[in-house]
Amino acid sequence: MMAPFRELDPHVARLRATSLRALFADDAARFDRFTMRLDDLLIDYSKEKVDAAALDALVALAREAGVEDAREAMVSGENWNLTEGRAALHMALRGGADAPASDDVTGTLDRMLAFAEDVREGRYAASAGNFTDIVNIGIGGSDLGPVMVARALEPDCDGPRLHFVSNVDPGHLTDTVKFLDPTRTLVILASKTFKTMETMMNARAASDWLRAAVGEEAGRHMAAVSTNIEGAAAFGIEENRVFGFWDWVGGRYSIWSAIGLPVAIGIGAQDFRVFLRGAATMDQHFRDAPLDKNLPVILALLGIWRRNGMGWPTVALIPYDQRLERFPAYVQQLDMESNGKQVGRGGDPVDTATGPVIWGEPGTNAQHSFFQLLHQGTDIVPVDFIAAAESRDGPDERHIALLANCLAQGQALAFGRTEDEVQAKMAEKHGDPDEIGRLAPHRTFPGDRPSTTILHRRLDPFTLGRLVALYEHKVFVQGVIWGINSFDQWGVELGKELASGLLPVLKGDTTPSLDVSTAGLVAALKEMSS
Ligand code: F6P
Repeated sequence: MMAPFRELDPHVARLRATSLRALFADDAARFDRFTMRLDDLLIDYSKEKVDAAALDALVALAREAGVEDAREAMVSGENWNLTEGRAALHMALRGGADAPASDDVTGTLDRMLAFAEDVREGRYAASAGNFTDIVNIGIGGSDLGPVMVARALEPDCDGPRLHFVSNVDPGHLTDTVKFLDPTRTLVILASKTFKTMETMMNARAASDWLRAAVGEEAGRHMAAVSTNIEGAAAFGIEENRVFGFWDWVGGRYSIWSAIGLPVAIGIGAQDFRVFLRGAATMDQHFRDAPLDKNLPVILALLGIWRRNGMGWPTVALIPYDQRLERFPAYVQQLDMESNGKQVGRGGDPVDTATGPVIWGEPGTNAQHSFFQLLHQGTDIVPVDFIAAAESRDGPDERHIALLANCLAQGQALAFGRTEDEVQAKMAEKHGDPDEIGRLAPHRTFPGDRPSTTILHRRLDPFTLGRLVALYEHKVFVQGVIWGINSFDQWGVELGKELASGLLPVLKGDTTPSLDVSTAGLVAALKEMSS
């Protein structure tokens, strides 16, 4: 059922007519009113262009859209993914669903973690001694989850070094293995389907690289993670090094499954279980908290407000945390592959905007590249900031500087600096009045630009688990409100099919009739490469 978005209209009109400056001036308790906590996790949305009445309307809209029933349906393992006839039970992988994890799920997790420990401890070793390096070959959900978590939890990584190859561009594998010793490297082939073109081509290239160094021992240097056990076997991976998962785990929700193997090798079984427990804690909160006190629901509703109320088409996700450098890309897949849909669950076209464009980079770097547009550009781009109170690197003035910058950006976006304020500031420095008049418009910040700030104590496995699950459930709730299926991704298929058709064309094996643009590009590529 699609939500009745027009009920937001009066609230939109009221809030468009005011400013964040005015909202803060009118309500000294705005921070307390628009902040929510779950243990040390805090979400401050006081700098969003909302008020209590608008939030009440958003919660009512969520209720009317059937969010509570949908949540129940997903958690209890109903076939929520209608177009693929499957449940979406990634929560079962971390003990957070009502549908209990089967023996198969717990057995596979135990086996995967035991293997991870064997590799870490050298009980399972390379042909020339303990494995020093792990290369994960996968793409999309079979890459972004592991690489994001591995980077985020670098302080916890005390096993072999982790590397990730995703792109079919040969340069990715070449550059990754350039300084690696194949006799001490374990290659993990990660693919839900074990059919993805990029992964299969890179898998063959990596296998050749191993074989050239260790010959018949190459098999010993490979493991696989897939739902397609037969595919992995056909590739020649020994059964005891194939770790399965299930079709009810979407690729972008698979980090909790054996797809987490490289992470488990890096951080160890115990920390991997803590990561799962963090997610399960968020699951429990999501399942049990009423809509108006539910962190993922509130985050989702703020997104609905930004997109369908205010009409803002993109969201910038800016972690003030270098170790979360891949988090925006991770959430980008999670959000855009889930909610980038134009038909509702019944197949009819939606009559409202659905998923926004999600993008971002860590701060403070982002301040020195695209924040200019966020502050003074003609589009309004809402921002999600994420920051940790404590650094994993111990007390350090630079961490305080990082936090100061994070808070400053939220302030600057929300409150800006008026032309009068700019002129007064310039006058303090005894500037020439003509010069002040000339420059002031350029130096004015319009402000009134929204942001949400997510704070937590420190970025450890538990908190990372909570953060990822927070965004997963946010995406789910928005999908329910938009009336779409968040768990399929048919939109990626056409390109894959056309690429398979163009492969022999570029190799010169066939010459089918193509549109003139593509035919022209093929001809140009052939000409340039000869
Ligand atoms: O092309 C999109 C996609 O299907 C993603 O949903 C998935 O995460 C990725 O490709 C990789 O698929 P696989 O794990 O089957 O190789």
